[in-house]
Amino acid sequence: MAALKTLFLFAITAATALPSPMVLDRKESQPLSSSNAPWDAGATTQFPIHPSCNVTQRRQIEQGLNETVELAAHAKAHILRWGNESDIYQKYFGNRPSLEPIGAFDLIAKGNRDVLFRCDNPDGNCQLEDPFVQGLTEAGYAGHWRGENGTDETVICELSYHTRRSLTTMCALGYNIAESETNVFWASDLMHRLYHMPAFGQHWVDHYADDYEEVVDMAKSNKTYSTHDSEALQYFALETYAYDIAVPGVGCPGPQHDSNHAEVSGSSSAGASPTSTTTQSASAASDIPEVSSL
Ligand SMILES: *[C@@H]1O[C@H](CO)[C@@H](O)[C@H](O)[C@H]1NC(C)=O
Ligand SMILES: *[C@@H]1O[C@H](CO)[C@@H](O)[C@H](O)[C@H]1NC(C)=O
Ligand SMILES: *[C@@H]1O[C@H](CO)[C@@H](O)[C@H](O)[C@H]1NC(C)=O
Ligand SMILES: *[C@@H]1O[C@H](CO)[C@@H](O)[C@H](O)[C@H]1NC(C)=O
Ligand SMILES: *[C@@H]1O[C@H](CO)[C@@H](O)[C@H](O)[C@H]1NC(C)=O
Repeated sequence: MAALKTLFLFAITAATALPSPMVLDRKESQPLSSSNAPWDAGATTQFPIHPSCNVTQRRQIEQGLNETVELAAHAKAHILRWGNESDIYQKYFGNRPSLEPIGAFDLIAKGNRDVLFRCDNPDGNCQLEDPFVQGLTEAGYAGHWRGENGTDETVICELSYHTRRSLTTMCALGYNIAESETNVFWASDLMHRLYHMPAFGQHWVDHYADDYEEVVDMAKSNKTYSTHDSEALQYFALETYAYDIAVPGVGCPGPQHDSNHAEVSGSSSAGASPTSTTTQSASAASDIPEVSSL
């Protein structure tokens, strides 16, 4: 905790160059009494990355988080422009009010970054199953939320650096929305990891649906959970990004199904699905992506 606090203080000092007494008071004093302090004094504007991450790991996590912010900011912008007129909105959120997903995306786009990403594997979960540590052939942990061992902390494991892709590859390398896992990309994988931490998920975003089919079914049945389901938020963000930004007006939705689950059209799925045989754990302490596409 001391290390965490030091890190925050470092980030604040670097970001705002406030006089040091004010900085030291940050955690304790709520409304700042000094009229000279800006209203948002003490904001954590950059995601803290623990010193256990070396320079290349830090760069990859930083860039991944930057893309997470880009993904979330666009998802919010899409809703603000189109609301429930958007077919993509209807697909993932049905007729639910848009306030909740707008807020969930905006927290990631602009919220206070009071969390910590670390690389030192303090709980030993990476080593248990990491193929790049153990020389195994099977996929292992790419990272995990520390849960009771550090509720605001996420560990990124070696596997992430080998497998997670940039959003610049959206709709390429065989990826499509319907048939690929959401954790193909740094951006969506880290979005998922952020929602596990209370600063972002607020104990409200959770796993109610496990995969694409379940997410789409949930929206159709008008479940109130859609707009705070972690997977639904990720799929919505990925599909709006694909359709609006990566391949404008086309995207890469993959095979679409009618309400009876019969295949309607196989549009753009010529390439093999990059990842599809394993599903993310709903309990969410970890995920187990397939790496055979490498
Ligand atoms: C950082 O750690 C990774 C292992 O994740 C290693 O491959 C890389 O060489 C290290 N980078 C530096 C600059 O030490
Ligand atoms: C991430 O974004 C920040 C703020 O825009 C920028 O300063 C930083 O260079 C970016 N980092 C990477 C690795 O892209
Ligand atoms: C869209 O939202 C508006 C206002 O919230 C609502 O009146 C309307 O029925 C919704 N339309 C659809 C197609 O869900
Ligand atoms: C928390 O730490 C304990 C003891 O090191 C460990 O057994 C447990 O798996 C850890 N929990 C998580 C979520 O990693
Ligand atoms: C969706 O559910 C809400 C709350 O359960 C309800 O008020 C609304 O009428 C439902 N909408 C549709 C189109 O079924």
